[in-house]
Amino acid sequence: MGISYLENQKLFKLDTPNTTYIIGIVDQEGFLGHVYYGRRLQEAQGAEELLRTLEGPFTPEKNSRDRSSFMDCFPWEYSSHGVGDFRESSIRIKDENGCSAVMLTYLSHEIYKGKHLLQGLPATFGSEDQVETLEITCEDKCLGLRAVLSYSVFEDTDAIARSVRFENAGKSALCLEKAMSCCLDMDNRGFEAITLHGSWARERRMERKPIGHGKFSVSTLRGETSHQEHCFMALVTPGADQDKGEAYGFHLVYSGNFLIQAEVNQFDSVRVVAGINPEDFSWRLTPGETFQTPEVILTYSAEGLGGMTKSLHGLYRNHLIRSPYLHKKRPILINNWEATYFDFDEKKLLDIAKESAALGIEMLVMDDGWFGNRYDDNRALGDWQVNENKLKGGLGSLVEKVNALGMKFGIWFEPEMISKESELYKQHPDWALAVPGRKPTLARNQYVLDVSRKEVRDCIMEQVFAVLHSANIEYVKWDMNRPLTDLYSASLPSDRQGELYHRYVLGMYEMQERLITEFPNLLLENCSGGGGRFDPGMLYYSPQIWCSDDTDAIERLAIQESTAMIYPLSTMGAHVSVCPNHTVGRNTPFETRGYVALAGTFGYELDVTKLSDEDKALVPRQTAMYHRFHDLVREGDYYRLSSWQENKSYDCFQVNSPDGKESLVFYTQVLNEPARHSRIVRLKGLEEGARYRIHMVSMEDGELTKDTGREASGEVLMYGGLRLERLWGDFRSQIFCLERL
Ligand code: GLA
Repeated sequence: MGISYLENQKLFKLDTPNTTYIIGIVDQEGFLGHVYYGRRLQEAQGAEELLRTLEGPFTPEKNSRDRSSFMDCFPWEYSSHGVGDFRESSIRIKDENGCSAVMLTYLSHEIYKGKHLLQGLPATFGSEDQVETLEITCEDKCLGLRAVLSYSVFEDTDAIARSVRFENAGKSALCLEKAMSCCLDMDNRGFEAITLHGSWARERRMERKPIGHGKFSVSTLRGETSHQEHCFMALVTPGADQDKGEAYGFHLVYSGNFLIQAEVNQFDSVRVVAGINPEDFSWRLTPGETFQTPEVILTYSAEGLGGMTKSLHGLYRNHLIRSPYLHKKRPILINNWEATYFDFDEKKLLDIAKESAALGIEMLVMDDGWFGNRYDDNRALGDWQVNENKLKGGLGSLVEKVNALGMKFGIWFEPEMISKESELYKQHPDWALAVPGRKPTLARNQYVLDVSRKEVRDCIMEQVFAVLHSANIEYVKWDMNRPLTDLYSASLPSDRQGELYHRYVLGMYEMQERLITEFPNLLLENCSGGGGRFDPGMLYYSPQIWCSDDTDAIERLAIQESTAMIYPLSTMGAHVSVCPNHTVGRNTPFETRGYVALAGTFGYELDVTKLSDEDKALVPRQTAMYHRFHDLVREGDYYRLSSWQENKSYDCFQVNSPDGKESLVFYTQVLNEPARHSRIVRLKGLEEGARYRIHMVSMEDGELTKDTGREASGEVLMYGGLRLERLWGDFRSQIFCLERL
């Protein structure tokens, strides 16, 4: 790892273990150009050639006849607006004269060990011996605008964290109308884009297609990351797969409106910009004021998608998630949502808890419906007081009884929302987002609270704290069940209304920060109608996020595969639920549901008191399985072996313990087919010369893992493969456990 400034060449060279990123300063004018991002280079000799500055018709310093053609093809490190580069700009301004042009050039730089926090925003972090940062200060003299382009490299991970801090160093106010977190220009190598799309209960399905001339983007204007598009894009070379080909990943550490766009221009070069969606965004900067963009993670792999996955998993595990639960076993929870929906009382919850405790489940989570007069989803959001008709003895007494069973207790909140039918709305109708004179749009019969306002945040957090202080509550599920509409804040002047989307996100982050500061030992799980706000920003506050409201094991194979491409398994909230499944009506074996949930946080979301004896008998086996393997799943190295989304037949992935002693191979046969051979799947990350004993997780009586009597060398398993029998029936699943001898 390291950052150096090569004085003679005027190049900055940023190295991660396997990658190099080079930025160049060009001529007296201080143009900042992007030179290189790819495999690690030992030396940068000759790299400045890659900027093509000596090609006509305009060459800096020599003639100024056609400056525009230079502007429009130079690989900028942070693109300008309105002065000759007609590709996507990284920044746009409205100055006091109403002009939008802006052009940033090099002023100074600083290289230091460590990394600063980003004011009010989630961001990656690391100690002085783990991270090094380059800050390049650029300026637009005309505007009096300064921009600090920040780059941090990590000693253990092939990732670069970029962000930009703006400062109005001039004498008059400026309005930022666009402020992207990064820009990356490079020659197109026939790149294909991999992006994640979906909807409620169908989050993050992978899509891959070539990018052509023009612009291709993913974005949202829903005020949250969204179920529909994800704040991630990878550009990969044709034919790139898990093991080979080049992959560039762009992932925003942000939970609001975003844009990630790839543009191929007339010279077949590609520009990627990523950051806050400029639509409906503006930020007023009076003299002396600053604006910090969110962070974007860049990663490059010369070893296919698997390399990209490894870097992102490493980065998020070691440099983003702060929770005390990061490396700790998460308690096996049972959530009552699919068990009871709103129809529960103390007795029902205790019945579930009693049965669960006996089966090895460790925590009861009381979901939506415990507060105000919340008997359905039409009311009571904002009234965070316990409904004592449902919980007769109050919350304290319920929690005590649950604790007496040896179980922990967790609770659900939706702090950013307000129901029209609520005491809070009666008292503060103006706290809901609504445009004056316009009827606001309801979603799930609720409005969004204007959490950009401090008094709103204070009121909600006081209520939340009062509940959490009133009993021994060890887990919170923080939900957010509708997108933002009707953007207007009664607290902002008209020239600052464009700040509201971002101020909302900052307000929400502040609330989450307050929560984990007040309750440092809390296990926080974020959620948004399932996985509508599953993003790196939220992982800064919670080590796990509810992956999807779709708990069907087969649907989950796809959702969890795509999610695991960029997030560690330990972040994915995954539960065993009943069949027919509540979202798709599918029947799958109880074993399969357990195996699929094991690849996430593992828990239950069903009424155990109503389970068949046969299924119930499996719960203690499953909980034992979790106890046996949680460390390995949480800390291990993940490898995708085969994708059901691609082969339409079966799913297979592997997790290796960090010390290499043990590996799990998760295999699910989605559809059985007649007249086929067994499958042979090549494993990854084993020791070539080592021998492995092959066991199988068993849900039958006796040992949890059964010896299959098979042994194979690492090279046979990796280059030949592991033979997997066809299973009788659909939706059947097995877990193999490899023991290194
Ligand atoms: C969202 C969550 C669910 C559940 C409900 C409660 O949809 O994703 O898990 O908590 O809200 O209203």
